[in-house]
Amino acid sequence: MIRGHGGNVLELAGRLGCRPADICDMSSNVNPLGPMPELMAHLHRRLDLIQALPEVDAATMTAAFAEASGLDPDGVLAGNGSTELIYLLPRVLAPPRAVVVGPTYADYTDACRLAGVPVVPVTAVAAQGFAPPLEQLKNALEPGDLVFICNPNNPTGVLLDPEAISTLAAGRPDCRFVVDESYLPFAPEAESLAHRGADNLLVLSSMSKIHRIAGLRIGFLMGPAPVLARLHPHRPPWSVNALAQEAVTFLSTHPGPVKQFLDETRSFLETEKQLLNQRLQGCHGLRGFPSRTSFVLLQLPAPATAAHVCQALARERILVRDCSNFIGLDPRFIRISLKDGDANRRVAECLDRIPEMTGKM
Ligand SMILES: Cc1ncc(COP(=O)(O)O)c(C=O)c1O
Repeated sequence: MIRGHGGNVLELAGRLGCRPADICDMSSNVNPLGPMPELMAHLHRRLDLIQALPEVDAATMTAAFAEASGLDPDGVLAGNGSTELIYLLPRVLAPPRAVVVGPTYADYTDACRLAGVPVVPVTAVAAQGFAPPLEQLKNALEPGDLVFICNPNNPTGVLLDPEAISTLAAGRPDCRFVVDESYLPFAPEAESLAHRGADNLLVLSSMSKIHRIAGLRIGFLMGPAPVLARLHPHRPPWSVNALAQEAVTFLSTHPGPVKQFLDETRSFLETEKQLLNQRLQGCHGLRGFPSRTSFVLLQLPAPATAAHVCQALARERILVRDCSNFIGLDPRFIRISLKDGDANRRVAECLDRIPEMTGKM
């Protein structure tokens, strides 16, 4: 759905009468170090590609991605961002129900509702640090369910052990599990489920976040070939554009620089996350939830609300995500996506002034 997402930097710039570039956008979960300079230079040189249609089903690029990832090309489907694939799944597979483990990214529920698939939420709670309630999930499952798990989860940052998901899926061959790993490349030493090869496991990934090429729109679905073969004919032709195909081919054939870029990203984020946590510890009852990825969920001390704090930060030209529209969260949650060291320090300094900031509302 078009609405239901987070902060909109263009809208805020319009409201403040400044340029989008003047705003420190900590609402968008993209790599603070990206995109890779080598990738940008390559795409600049290949702008001529937009003069012709891209390969209709992006098969060459998909094969390059599959080879680089150690997967069978029949087990990979490319999409116009992972979003296209999220919306495709309930529409084509038409399960009797979907189960969404939340609080999480809204599009799983939106996609199911648009496809006429009823959604059963299973919701983690703050008191348990938002650990996904796996026992509750097991008890909620019915034959034929399509289960969505975001790992690491947006917005909580919690990472489930892949073994736990694998065991869960193995125990319920009558259900299908979709694991969204869009934020997994930010987590140090995390293992993808894409290589497990289970018949009822589908894995989503996105290049938007880790490579900071959200505008190019590239995502993948990885899973059993027969399921992907069912989905394939329902994709529109040319859904992955020419520059996006070129970007994937470049990234898939330059493993050395990509590995170095990913290592640098993870090491930068670990340092910045530690610093942010230290700074936030002194902030008037603010609670930060441990995150394994590039953003941190914060619970504000009463009577501060996300609306108040976002408004006060907006006056400082800092945009963070008001999480009050996530199912399962209340109006006291915000999410901060880590940026450069200066921005991360500045947001912590602002949050230290919450009582003062909210007093002026
Ligand atoms: C968890 C999650 N999955 C998928 C997406 C969609 O990403 P894209 O369509 O750019 O791949 C987002 C975007 O914010 C997200 O947060």
